[in-house]
Amino acid sequence: MYKARIIGTGSYLPEKILTNSDLEKMVDTNDEWIITRTGIRQRRIAADNQATSDLALEASKKALITAGLKPEEIELLVVATITPDMPFPSTACVLQAKLGAKNAVCFDLNAACTGFIYGLSCVKQYLQMGTYKTALVVAAETLSSVTDWQDRNTCILFGDGAGAAVLRREETQRGLMEIYLNSDGNYQGLLNMPAGGSRIPATENSVKERLHFLKMKGNEVFKIAIQSMIKAANEVVSRNNLKWEDVKFIIPHQANTRIINAVAKRVGVSMERVFLNIHKYGNMSAATTAVGLDEVIREKDIKEGDLLMLVAFGAGFTSGACLIRW
Ligand code: UT7
Repeated sequence: MYKARIIGTGSYLPEKILTNSDLEKMVDTNDEWIITRTGIRQRRIAADNQATSDLALEASKKALITAGLKPEEIELLVVATITPDMPFPSTACVLQAKLGAKNAVCFDLNAACTGFIYGLSCVKQYLQMGTYKTALVVAAETLSSVTDWQDRNTCILFGDGAGAAVLRREETQRGLMEIYLNSDGNYQGLLNMPAGGSRIPATENSVKERLHFLKMKGNEVFKIAIQSMIKAANEVVSRNNLKWEDVKFIIPHQANTRIINAVAKRVGVSMERVFLNIHKYGNMSAATTAVGLDEVIREKDIKEGDLLMLVAFGAGFTSGACLIRW
C-alpha cells in the first residue's frame, strides 16, 4: 500500500516581535488580560517588504534541505493561506517562480486555520493514486496585513509565519494515515473578512468602514472551536482503533490556550503530550499546525513509528485532524 510520507519539514518566522506591552500602547489592553485569556505573550510580524510568498519561500527552502530534494523535483505545490500575496495569481504560482519549482503543478487552498490539514489531505490523494510522486505543502500567513490594529478584540491574537512539508509517495507503513475533515458554511458570519472579494469590492467606503480587516465574534467561535476539535481528534483515533495513549504528540491549532486545555481535558490527554507555541507566535491560522509540526520534529524526541496528531479549527467553519506515523 502506497503512503504519502513526510520526508522533510521547515518553518520560518519573521524577525520582528510584537509583545503584549507593545500592544498596550496601541489599544486599551494589558499584558495580564492577554496572557490569562489567551496564553499569548508575543507574536511575529512580517517586515513591510515581506508578503506571504516570501515567508513561504523561506519555510520551503528549509523543508527541501531536510528532505534532500531540489525544487525541480517537486511535482505538486499547494499553498494553504487566507492571506495570499494578491487575489490572483495564486501564491503557489508566485512561490513556484521564487523557488524554481518549475515542474510543479501549483494552486492555493483556503480552509483558514485548518488549511495545512486540508492541504495534506489533498496531496495524500494525489500521491496515493500515483498521479504525482513528490509534493510540497506550505501553510503561510501574513495575518498582520488583515488585522485591525484598532480592534482590541482581535489584534492581540494573530501573528505571521510559515511552515512547509515535503511529501513523497512510498511503499511504507509510515506517513499520513487517517485524515478527518469537516466544513460548515452556516457559521461564516462569525469569522471573516467582509470586503475585497466580489461581494464588497474595494471602495473608499469599504476602506473607511474598515471592512478589509478580519472580524470575529470570539466568544461564539470559542465554544464551537472546542467541540469541533474534540470531534475531529476523536474521529481519527477511533477510526484507527487506537487508544489515546498510542498518540505520542498532539499538535493542535493555537488560537487560545484555554481552547487547547479544554480539548486535552475532554479527550483525557495530559498537557505534557500537547505541543504549545502560542506564547511565542499567537494564532498564525493555517501556518500554526505546519510550524508546530516542524518544531515538534526538531525539538522533541520523535522516533520512527511514533504517532503524531494535527488537529485544527478555523473560519468557514472548517475543522480537521490528521494522524501521522512518523
Ligand atoms: O483561529 C480560529 C478560531 N479562533 C478562535 O478559536 C478564537 C476563539 N475565541 C477566543 O479565543 C476568545 O473568545 C477571545 C480571546 C477572542 C476573547 O476571550 P473571551 O474570554 O471570550 O472574552 P470576551 O470576548 O467575552 O470579552 C470579555 C471582556 C469584554 O469586556 P466586558 O464586555 O466584559 O466589559 C471585552 O470587551 O474582555 C474585554 N476584552 C478585552 N479586555 C482587555 C476583549 N478584548 C480585550 C483585550 N484586552 N484585548
